[in-house]
Amino acid sequence: MRNYFIAGNWKMHKTRAEAAALAQALVAQLKDGKHKYLVAPSFTALETVGKIVAGTNIMLGAQNMAAEEQGAHTGEVSVLQLKDLGVQAVILGHSERRHLYKEDDALINKKVRLALKHGLEVILCVGELLEEREAGKAEAVCETQTVKGLEGVTAEELKRVTIAYEPVWAIGTGKTATPEDADAIHAFIRKVIGKLYGEAASKSICIQYGGSVKPENAAQLMAKPNIDGALVGGAALKAETFVPIAKFA
Ligand code: 13P
Repeated sequence: MRNYFIAGNWKMHKTRAEAAALAQALVAQLKDGKHKYLVAPSFTALETVGKIVAGTNIMLGAQNMAAEEQGAHTGEVSVLQLKDLGVQAVILGHSERRHLYKEDDALINKKVRLALKHGLEVILCVGELLEEREAGKAEAVCETQTVKGLEGVTAEELKRVTIAYEPVWAIGTGKTATPEDADAIHAFIRKVIGKLYGEAASKSICIQYGGSVKPENAAQLMAKPNIDGALVGGAALKAETFVPIAKFA
């Protein structure tokens, strides 16, 4: 079996006590899990959750990061502060950051390079809006976001990058891309990586799918040749729904 990577993005949910309860349940229920796992709580719960997942098979991730190392950036959180909390990976370029908070490819690329420079793993999210898909632009959008997001990233650094394909129209809507449609875009992104970094990198890069992943559809998605894992939102908020995804069969 391939080495799948299943990540939970908790978005802006959970107090520290709620986050701790979920993290404890996941540690207990995933300890015999066969894949790579990550949870990304809010900044406010990173320390709490970090203590619970430390030394387990669940990595600690952050949902965003400042583009600067430190300085006068009110309201931002730096890579140094994340590392201080034991954060191992950071989600960057999430569609909610791109569309609600107007992050562009240049800013996202700056964050990607800074995170990699400091030894973190990166989950770089790409994905098209519904109108872009309907206009036949899904591939072009994903290509641009991938190429620009990875500008200046070396082949060595790329080994710490996961791409998450999250079609915006499938996020939190209950509409999942069909496994076939998702796989087609994943194959396309793999080709883009091949053009940038060569054949071996295109084969080994991990490409997660995100957008209404549930216990009911996880196995069908993971069965596709180009889908290497999942970035889960809503269903990651409860152990009852995340664990079956993480242990899909
Ligand atoms: P949902 O699983 O709630 O659709 O969210 C997906 C997502 O945005 C994960 O980053």
